Amino acid sequence: MRRWQGDGISFGGDYNPEQWPEETWSEDVDLMRRAGVNLVSVGIFSWALLEPTPGRFEFGWLDRVLGLLHDGGVQVDLATATASPPPWLARQHPQTLPRRADGVTLWPGGRQAYCPSSPIFRERSLDLVRAVAGRYAEHPAVVMWHVSNELGCHNVHCYCDVSAEAFRGWLRERYGDLDRLNDAWGTAFWSQRYGDWAEINPPRAAPTFANPTQQLDFLRFSSDEQRAQLRAEREVLRTLVRQPVTTNFMIGLGVKHMDYHSWAADVDLVSNDHYLTAADPLAHLGLALAADHTRGVAGGAPWLLMEHSTSAVNWQPRNVAKLPGQLRRNSLAHVARGADGVLFFQWRASRAGAEKFHSALVPHAGPNTKVFREVCQLGADLRALAEVRGSRVDADVAILFDWEAWWAVELDSHPSVDVTYADRLNALYGALWRAGVTADIVHPSADLGGYRLVLAPTLYLVRDADAEALQRYVEAGGTALVTYFSGIVDANDHIRLGGYPGAFRDLLGVRTEEFFPLREGERVHLDDGSVADVWTEWLHAEGADVLASYTDGPLPGVPALTRNAVGDGAAWYVGTRLDEPATDRLVARLLAEADVRPAAPAPSGVEVVRRRDGDRTWLFAINHTDDEVRVAATGVDLLTGGRCGGELGLPAGGVAVVREDRADGPS
Ligand code: GAL
Repeated sequence: MRRWQGDGISFGGDYNPEQWPEETWSEDVDLMRRAGVNLVSVGIFSWALLEPTPGRFEFGWLDRVLGLLHDGGVQVDLATATASPPPWLARQHPQTLPRRADGVTLWPGGRQAYCPSSPIFRERSLDLVRAVAGRYAEHPAVVMWHVSNELGCHNVHCYCDVSAEAFRGWLRERYGDLDRLNDAWGTAFWSQRYGDWAEINPPRAAPTFANPTQQLDFLRFSSDEQRAQLRAEREVLRTLVRQPVTTNFMIGLGVKHMDYHSWAADVDLVSNDHYLTAADPLAHLGLALAADHTRGVAGGAPWLLMEHSTSAVNWQPRNVAKLPGQLRRNSLAHVARGADGVLFFQWRASRAGAEKFHSALVPHAGPNTKVFREVCQLGADLRALAEVRGSRVDADVAILFDWEAWWAVELDSHPSVDVTYADRLNALYGALWRAGVTADIVHPSADLGGYRLVLAPTLYLVRDADAEALQRYVEAGGTALVTYFSGIVDANDHIRLGGYPGAFRDLLGVRTEEFFPLREGERVHLDDGSVADVWTEWLHAEGADVLASYTDGPLPGVPALTRNAVGDGAAWYVGTRLDEPATDRLVARLLAEADVRPAAPAPSGVEVVRRRDGDRTWLFAINHTDDEVRVAATGVDLLTGGRCGGELGLPAGGVAVVREDRADGPS
């Protein structure tokens, strides 16, 4: 693992100078200095310019760009430039084009038009990596390498013949022989038994539901194929360069198909791209969740926000712009949650191409704008936060998250289409956010020992070892909550027999004999006053205490909320979809039982998070409300230089980062 070196918080964005005449470049560097930009990503979509015809490289323009940046004191995260192949690749090798499940070929003209399993793409892209890395390995401006760009964003699933052959190879590795595959896939069902590897295909468009384990394995394979590109590029880089290597993940964008948990070991530092769902007035909760999840993937280490937006994007149905102050709140919320760098897409707004209406640090209207002024302000803020770099985030709560569980729970032919993976995750996360409590979003195999409370939303697929680890965590004194439709299947998507929730039955002290999903819009009530919808189940308490039961719906009198004392801890189960007030009440009870407190007492709508480095701590307070608020804090606000002794006044929309006094006196 190579260390990501740097002073203070990194600040900048994607820089695409090839879209502009050279005269603009010096102005760019001048403006970067004015804004305090110290890191830019260069060359991400430059393949067609760097290698205009196969095998002929032109580096002159990039030499000049890197030279200007270096002279201006701006460091570079240099891309391997493999993100999108030039049109000549498809013309020369049409078999490198990706194909959809229905057989339609995806052509160049957008980006990422390549089959992820194509050996030709792999070979040509690695030739490019060798050429770029060979030329710039020692360049003094280059401090980091950026593999490809958002691997899998548009081409994660390819169903062409090349992919089919690669899928068979992957399955041979996984299963060794066909008998094991037939067992794992349950091919006794619907006459699906395979007698020859050549009979197996990706789950291409079929007359009806495809085999679920085939689908699940194809999703695993597809994530692995993208990861293989990352690993192949990284291997080339490792032999040629000494700087740390990253690639930008897309955690929290609703991007489902890359298992970043398994990818994290392949990068020297985790970096992430995050865009707000702009039309959502509570989009800052989604931001916080994505940041906490990125930190979880990074194992708690500081990470880099590789992209976000200064204002509107171009790819949502209604591209709502950010109001004054929102850019600052968004950026500093990422820092609060462990980012040591804040970068954007992109430096200068394009004047041509599909992203010309996407915001940037320098808008079409130029530097005399609200956006550029806010960018300069953010640069100053981040300079003031330099000492925070390298610190970690305090979290007493873990939420378990597994991409494979996400894939499996959202396969077809399930009891209710209303059960989605994000639903209970968002609900529980929202309740914690409202309570001012920070959570790490971690894989079920993570070490849970340090947490006071562990939440397992909709963990439909769970491995034996991970279920056992949760049991041990509770026995040792932990508090856990499991929500409905968890523990149902093993890694092959086979039902765990004997009653639901299979893997968690003993831990929870309950046994469900039948699911009773509700009709669209149907609601049920519980005898503790809670309201719920979507899901109920015929549950028997077998050792657990019943905390609430249904008063109506299909199962009056049947338990809906239970608590099982196990060892020194307790395991709670909720068998229905509680509405927001009831979820808040449940989470408040769990926090009280586990003795978890907010980072600081603060009014609702104020985000509070603490970063820590040894005995030094920083309290981030972000006011998302329209009112001035008061937050308990003692120390110095690094953003204003002002002291607060016990209480901090925070204007509407304001942010404070308080270096807290140590127990033995002011810091
Ligand atoms: C990202 C991508 C960037 C740019 C941006 C626009 O997905 O990495 O290249 O397209 O979105 O929001």
